[in-house]
Amino acid sequence: MHCFKSAVGAQTALWMLTGLAFSPVCGAQGHDSTIVIKFSHVVARETPKGKGAEYFKKLAEERTRGRVKVEVYPNSQLYKDKEELEALQLGSVQMLAPSVSKFGPMGVKAFEAFDLPYLFDGYEAAHKITHGPIGQSMLMQLQQHQMIGLAFWDNGFKEFTANRPLRRPEDFKGLKFRIKSSKVLEAQMRALGAIPQVMAFSDVYQALQTGVVDGAETTPTNIYTQRWHEVQKYLSLSHHGYDGYVVVANRKFWDSLPLDVRGTLEQALNDATRYVESITVREEADAIEAIRASGKSRVIELTAEERSALKEALRPVHQQMEGRIGREVLESIDSATRSDQKHSKAASALPVAVR
Ligand code: LMR
Repeated sequence: MHCFKSAVGAQTALWMLTGLAFSPVCGAQGHDSTIVIKFSHVVARETPKGKGAEYFKKLAEERTRGRVKVEVYPNSQLYKDKEELEALQLGSVQMLAPSVSKFGPMGVKAFEAFDLPYLFDGYEAAHKITHGPIGQSMLMQLQQHQMIGLAFWDNGFKEFTANRPLRRPEDFKGLKFRIKSSKVLEAQMRALGAIPQVMAFSDVYQALQTGVVDGAETTPTNIYTQRWHEVQKYLSLSHHGYDGYVVVANRKFWDSLPLDVRGTLEQALNDATRYVESITVREEADAIEAIRASGKSRVIELTAEERSALKEALRPVHQQMEGRIGREVLESIDSATRSDQKHSKAASALPVAVR
């Protein structure tokens, strides 16, 4: 992209002469010209992540008075899940917000804890991790991978979809389920007697439609905006796992930002994070309602007994994955989500790399 560093007056004269709309846009380094942030993601604009990215764009552009321009590319327009992380590391895009699950395959194993079934019983418990020292320590570990972890955003709690009603563990037997690339999710599906199949998010609709897979799991806002409910007869309100995002930036890019701009962007991101947290629960409920109203997929409420049977069947996954994720990480999450008092004790017992 050509970068105009000439005096504004000269540019204006040129525009007046030619009538052309020259764009004074440049890469991150030229602080006398516009800083462009390409923010890529894989979900629809109408989801909490999509709205959060747009809100961040609005605040960043307003508060830097146009010094920063944020270009948001939703719906895997630029990259699918795996490619977007590679693109960020190479600097082809500057910001992303991948699911927490997507950092495990990169080698940051602590993130795999989030994929454990029924790890959190609600947002309050999840926020004890994402707002606290354990989450901070996870973000720090991303620095070795050419990225800066800036914030956690909520996506929601996952539900299962299929063409058969899923109420009890035996209902999953023999069904093929799309999962994100995650050893924990693989173990989760196997514990239910299902067959996991790793697939990019953008390919799921077609895979469900053509029967390449029989079922899937994600949050209600994703199910609704990706129209999975049009190709799946049932949605079970299993609430079996938390899904969140990590807003990440390319490290070299972020470090090269002028300090005042970086501070403004961090503040904008803080506000965008609060915004995402303020809309997620409502958006989740609205999506379930919209799916119900569409009449295309039946929404199944689980009884307390059905939910505890599922929980019971999935409990061994925690033990199985302990060696991978790390016992200390799991113990610290466990005590942080149980009581604040225990938490501070457990956090201080963590090795520095995890703290
Ligand atoms: C998925 O791949 O299921 C999700 O991570 C997509 C997303 O970003 O919400």
